[in-house]
Amino acid sequence: MTPPETIAIETRELTRTFRRFIAVDSVSLQVRKGEIFGLLGANGAGKTTTIRMLTGLLKPSRGEAWVAGIPVHSSPEKVKHRLGYMSQRFSLYEDLTVAENLTFFGGVYGLRRPDLRRRKEALLDLFDLKDMADRITSSLPTGHRQRLALASALVHEPPLLFLDEPTGGIDPVARRTFWRVISDLASAGVTVMVTTHYMDEAEYCHRLGIMRDGRIVAVGSPDELRNTHQVATMEEVFLNVAGTGEDAS
Ligand SMILES: Nc1ncnc2c1ncn2[C@@H]1O[C@H](COP(=O)(O)OP(=O)(O)O)[C@@H](O)[C@H]1O
Ligand SMILES: [Mg+2]
Repeated sequence: MTPPETIAIETRELTRTFRRFIAVDSVSLQVRKGEIFGLLGANGAGKTTTIRMLTGLLKPSRGEAWVAGIPVHSSPEKVKHRLGYMSQRFSLYEDLTVAENLTFFGGVYGLRRPDLRRRKEALLDLFDLKDMADRITSSLPTGHRQRLALASALVHEPPLLFLDEPTGGIDPVARRTFWRVISDLASAGVTVMVTTHYMDEAEYCHRLGIMRDGRIVAVGSPDELRNTHQVATMEEVFLNVAGTGEDAS
């Protein structure tokens, strides 16, 4: 059965195996529209594999997933225009300029020229990249590359955004700016699923799913998780349920 309108992402027993190895193991969860949902887990927990299935890039071995009302387990190609995806590697075209990258992604999503011009202006403005528009992407500092990657994922104004460790390698000030943009997007109704290994970033999420060995081992808001485990910090929650500390990724 299709999930109700208010649910942006729903998975039921979503599973992915590689040969006999179970990378994602019967994950069932719901994310509401406009929610920032964080996936937290140590390196190898299954976060990227989960996101790749939800974005239609990887076929589930078993189970079901609905994203923006589309059954991605059976129609993965239909979901691509409804979402923005920022992969762990910031897939940008290194030898294009900042503006050319936005034009390229606008083309991928079939934007018409007047819309594209309007979106480029707005995104260069929002991400403070106007002065950099003609710079070659490979010459940008990491913080700028990250903003350009996010801008590229937003060029077609998708109602859903998937961010896989978007703040890796950038400084704390740039991280705070980045999260302000994410919070603003969510306030405007965009649903965000994000993976992170920074515990302080967990606080920006409305709800979290903690993953261990391919399974979701805890779900809740940061406060709910702290209360349930009767601890003061997310680090302690994480130690309790995922068995490892801050350097998880
Ligand atoms: N294409 C693949 N082939 C084989 N194993 C894979 C593949 N992709 C991921 N895995 C394995 O699945 C597990 C989960 O990986 P991943 O989803 O990338 O974890 P995370 O993003 O949480 O670090 C890891 O053990 C990884 O080695
Ligand atoms: Mg990963």
